[in-house]
Amino acid sequence: MNLSSAITHNNIFHIVNICSQRIKQRSYVIGGYVRDFLLGKENPKDIDILTVGKGIRLAKEVSKYIKPLPKIHIFKRFGTAMLEYDNKKIEFVGSRKESYHFHSRKPIIESGSLQDDQNRRDFTINSLAISLNNDDYGKLIDPFGGLLDLKKKILRTPLDSYITYSDDPLRMMRAIRFSTELQFMIEESSFQSIKKNKNRINIVSKERIIEEFNRILLYKKPSIGLLLLYESGLLSIILPELTLLQGIEEKNGFKHKDNFYHTLQVVDNISKDNSNSLWLRWVALLHDIGKSYTKKFIPKIGWTFHSHEFVGSKMITNIFERLKLPKGMMKYVKKMIKNSYKPVALIGNDISNSAIRRLLFDMGEDIEDLIKLCLADITTKNKEKKDHYKRNIFILMNRIKNLEKSDHIRNWKSPISGNDIMNTFDINPCKEIGMIKNLIRDSILEGKISNDKNSAYIFMLKKGKELGLKKK
Ligand code: CTP
Repeated sequence: MNLSSAITHNNIFHIVNICSQRIKQRSYVIGGYVRDFLLGKENPKDIDILTVGKGIRLAKEVSKYIKPLPKIHIFKRFGTAMLEYDNKKIEFVGSRKESYHFHSRKPIIESGSLQDDQNRRDFTINSLAISLNNDDYGKLIDPFGGLLDLKKKILRTPLDSYITYSDDPLRMMRAIRFSTELQFMIEESSFQSIKKNKNRINIVSKERIIEEFNRILLYKKPSIGLLLLYESGLLSIILPELTLLQGIEEKNGFKHKDNFYHTLQVVDNISKDNSNSLWLRWVALLHDIGKSYTKKFIPKIGWTFHSHEFVGSKMITNIFERLKLPKGMMKYVKKMIKNSYKPVALIGNDISNSAIRRLLFDMGEDIEDLIKLCLADITTKNKEKKDHYKRNIFILMNRIKNLEKSDHIRNWKSPISGNDIMNTFDINPCKEIGMIKNLIRDSILEGKISNDKNSAYIFMLKKGKELGLKKK
């Protein structure tokens, strides 16, 4: 197969072609760019240039042909270099052979041929190379049948899959990530090798695991990857709290749903209809984790998971610390899970406005995310029930909208500040200030006074007096 017409002249490939000839190093474009290009992706992002020789030397030569002269980032330790061209990162690396020590996924590297370099790669579809050399410019070099695998939508390792995953266990996550993104099958024997090597994931840093995990979560249908993680045994190592949700129990004719498969459905729902937010997807993933710890059977009533949202939200600190997730997002995830059941509890005509104001106050800007979660949480297959639950949430949304219009609780700031209280009663900081502020807040949320400065001021004078304070 010759791709020279596709690899147009007058671009970076043309420059690499000229420079490779000048410095007498054969060069190829390889890896993700070739894969994505052959898959017909519009604009593959980064380009890996492989050269049989020194990567840094080729990068320096290439930079001379680009105007204005680009900055070259040189990674001496790895013998690689990177420069930016046409909004793309162009990486230059010398072809290499790799060998591994059992306790590390960092390889020992020595220079090698193009074939050595293709051998060391994770999947046949990532081993494809296109020549940038004069004698065979544009020729696809495909020693492992990667092109056919692209057509058959299969992920296969070039060499023995057990060794490929054992050498670099991150590749198990990558296999599942590619499978989710491209909707490719992982070859059966390869999947068996992932199962056998699952415990080797422990030599990979949490950051790298989470990087792949987050990518899986961000695709259109994350359940593809989450299921593969589960079936391979990797999920019970990374996130055992989630796999504990799997299973259905039946007693005296009472059954509960399988909360693991329900969770996967919720994550897919939130991804499909509602949100590109990674952290809302994490919320969907973790929203029921308290259930395995709160499950109870009550005769004649059935299965209950009382307070699972509180227990679940308490489990978040541990998960975030263990997986090195960003501390800055922890508060949001905890708050969302803690309140995840509230909107459902606020459904019905007998629910007071003050209960809804309280929810708006607690959730602030995140109220919309909470409603999205509640909608995604409706996974019943019964159409009537589904429509009924949805309708109820839409009614609640309307009430929220109307209340927000009249009361502006969402980003609520007390109309009376601590300073106002100190000045009015001529007092220094003391506990009475906090007490009055809380009373003002509660009275506004309960609708006893309106949310404006004048009403709050009159209320403050009254409460101050009751607490024995005198107006200045
Ligand atoms: N690679 C590998 N093993 C890894 C990581 C990478 O063999 N653990 C190889 C693959 O051939 C891959 C190339 O290095 O194609 C570049 O890696 P990277 O940029 O991480 O991935 P891409 O395949 O380019 O895909 P994406 O950009 O979607 O991550």
